Amino acid sequence: MIRNELNSEERAVEELVRDSFWNVYRPGCLEHYVLHVMRSSPGFYKELNFVMYLDDVLIGQVVFHKAELKLKDGSTKEIATFGPIAIHNDYKRKKYGMILLAFALNKAKEQGIKALLMEGNYDFYSKLGFERAKDKNILYYGSTVDFLLYKELEEGYLKDCDQANYMTPKVYYVDEKEAEDFDLSFKPMEKKKLDSQIFK
Ligand SMILES: CC(C)(COP(=O)(O)OP(=O)(O)OC[C@H]1O[C@@H](n2cnc3c(N)ncnc32)[C@H](O)[C@@H]1OP(=O)(O)O)[C@@H](O)C(=O)NCCC(=O)NCCS
Repeated sequence: MIRNELNSEERAVEELVRDSFWNVYRPGCLEHYVLHVMRSSPGFYKELNFVMYLDDVLIGQVVFHKAELKLKDGSTKEIATFGPIAIHNDYKRKKYGMILLAFALNKAKEQGIKALLMEGNYDFYSKLGFERAKDKNILYYGSTVDFLLYKELEEGYLKDCDQANYMTPKVYYVDEKEAEDFDLSFKPMEKKKLDSQIFK
C-alpha cells in the first residue's frame, strides 16, 4: 500500500530513513534530519510525501521538493527534485524502491511537475527512465558530473537547457551539528567508516 504520510507517523518514517541510510554514504547519516527539516519548507510537496506499507510494516518513503534550473540567459525554469527515498533494510533489492518511485512519479506528473533533477545512482534510477544530465549539457554548480540525473515528465520540457545550471535546493544542506544533536534522540547506532562511502 502506498499513501500520504500521516503526521502521527513522522517519527517512524524518520527512523526508517535513518536505518536505511545509516553508514551508506558517510559514517552515520543526515537524511532523517533533512526529512525532518524539509517537511516545513515552503517548497515541500505535501501531496507527494509518500509512505509504503507491506501488510502492517512500514517499508518505504519518498518526498519531493521544488527546485529550479538556471538557464544560460539568466532566466529560471521550474523543476522539482526528490529525496530522501528509502526502503527498509530487510526489503531492499526486492523491487519495492522501483514500485514506490514509479507510483510517485505518476503522482508528480499529475501535480504538474514537468521535469525532475537529482543526484543519484544511475544503476537504480535509469530503470525508471532517468538519464544523465550531462547528456543534455546540464551542469551541476557549473561543472559536468556523472551523478546528476534528469527525467522529463513533459516531453521536451528540458530542451534548450544547454549549459543550464542546477544547484541543490538549500533545504538539503542541513547543519551537521544540528543533525548530530537531532540524532541523539534516536536509538544509538555505531557510525562506521567504509570504503564504499562517498563522503569521507
Ligand atoms: C536505493 C533504494 C531506494 C533502492 O530501492 P530497492 O527497493 O532496494 O531497489 P530495487 O529492488 O527497486 O532496485 C531495482 C534495480 O535497481 C538497481 N539498484 C537498486 N539499488 C541499487 C544499488 N544500491 N546499486 C546498484 N544498483 C541498484 C538494480 O539493478 C536493481 O535490480 P536488481 O536488484 O535485480 O539488480 C534502496 O536500496 C535504499 O533505500 N537505499 C538506501 C538509501 C538510498 O541510497 N536512497 C537513495 C539515495 S539517492
